[in-house]
Amino acid sequence: MSLDPGDRRQVHIETFGCQMNEYDSEVVRALLTREGYVMTEDRECADVILMNTCAIRENAHTKVYTHLSDLKALKKSRPLVVGVLGCMAQNLKEELTKHEPLVDLLAGPDSYRQLPALISNAVHAQEQGRYLKALAVDLSEYETYDDIVPARIPGVNAWIAVMRGCDNFCSFCVVPYTRGRERSREPQGILDEAARIAGEGFKQITLLGQNVNSYRSGEWDFARLMVAVADVPGIERVRFTSPHPKDFPAPLLEAVAGHPKICKHIHLPAQSGNDRILGMMNRTYTRGEYLALVERIRSMNSRIVLTTDIIAGFCSETDGEFADTYRLLEEVKYHSAFIFLYSERTNTIAARKFTDDVSPETKSRRVTALVELQRRISTQRNREYLGQTLPVLVEGDAKKSTFQAMGKSDGNVTVIWNKTDLACRPGDLVACSMYDASASTLYARAVGRSEP
Ligand code: 5AD
Ligand code: SF4
Repeated sequence: MSLDPGDRRQVHIETFGCQMNEYDSEVVRALLTREGYVMTEDRECADVILMNTCAIRENAHTKVYTHLSDLKALKKSRPLVVGVLGCMAQNLKEELTKHEPLVDLLAGPDSYRQLPALISNAVHAQEQGRYLKALAVDLSEYETYDDIVPARIPGVNAWIAVMRGCDNFCSFCVVPYTRGRERSREPQGILDEAARIAGEGFKQITLLGQNVNSYRSGEWDFARLMVAVADVPGIERVRFTSPHPKDFPAPLLEAVAGHPKICKHIHLPAQSGNDRILGMMNRTYTRGEYLALVERIRSMNSRIVLTTDIIAGFCSETDGEFADTYRLLEEVKYHSAFIFLYSERTNTIAARKFTDDVSPETKSRRVTALVELQRRISTQRNREYLGQTLPVLVEGDAKKSTFQAMGKSDGNVTVIWNKTDLACRPGDLVACSMYDASASTLYARAVGRSEP
């Protein structure tokens, strides 16, 4: 059921979590606009508030609950339909529906096509004083939203989801349960989308997938797809996230190392540096195999920036095993690392098979030790750029000052310079000469235009 003509309800979406969720919110915006809904940035005048949620770690989950309780007061003061989308809707359907009558509808990541009807039903029920809890949380083996053109907000970067779901079942991870089985889109649809994106003026494409480098469609693997996207005229840079270390065949490494439009950055989640813990996590590689891959990448092109994800305090992790992770960071010297404290997620293999027995104090101590170490390493890494002039893709104003501009190096490091150096606009490629560095930022002088 769609809306009655003239019944232009205002919908506000709040997005939590990963880039795939940002992308999915663009898909939802497109699906709703098509049916006559009007999107609004202002939650105060919204008839419908949708929260696109993340369930990957405890703190993401807590954030959503805090926002939901904020909405309680709003809902008391006026008619309002509240919907929960995404991974939490999928994973916590029983728990979330207990929050009645706050949550009117739930839609999991494969059910967004049903949203216009779900919202319309909920709105009409509310008008008649009924409370209708609408649920669409079935996972699909096929849904890729291939035919939906996401309603992108104009800017420098556009995301394209090339595959969805994950079959890896890392024991700590809820994604295989919330987003279901792995499925890839047809290459032609992706290439058409890339050409359209270039035509709309975007300069960078980020290829997305829960396990992006296991993309496969007929004869097309991820390397072939990424090179074809990078060859689309008008696109200056291609990035990808998140890959798994098990899927890096030679052609993919060659593409990253050698193609001028593919950014020299690989996010290579290690999770742990200890073989027993890696085994329990079901990561399918050993520390030695992971380090061999790092070595191979660096021998192909020493400019490639490596970043990682680490989990500290996984079930039964000893001080000695944690020390292996600490040494992995010292050895690889990543440019940056996301360091997480292990949090048990409902339904996962770890929740069913292992005990979450590392104390919260020990987990925090380990996270702090890794964060401090990584801060020193990131500063060292960024200082290696001092004196160099690098092409930087302009994104906009710096966060802290509108007198400064901000962009990203090819290796994805944030660069800041004074706007008085050079007139530039988002999407321009600027040559920046680096003169100072912190753990997270390079400070530069913009010295000219950079040739694409
Ligand atoms: N606890 C802590 N971190 C987690 N991640 C995924 N699941 C968990 C969990 N249960 C981290 C992993 C992954 C990143 C996206 O989130 O490091 O790579
Ligand atoms: Fe989760 Fe592992 Fe799949 Fe990444 S590869 S989404 S960590 S199960």
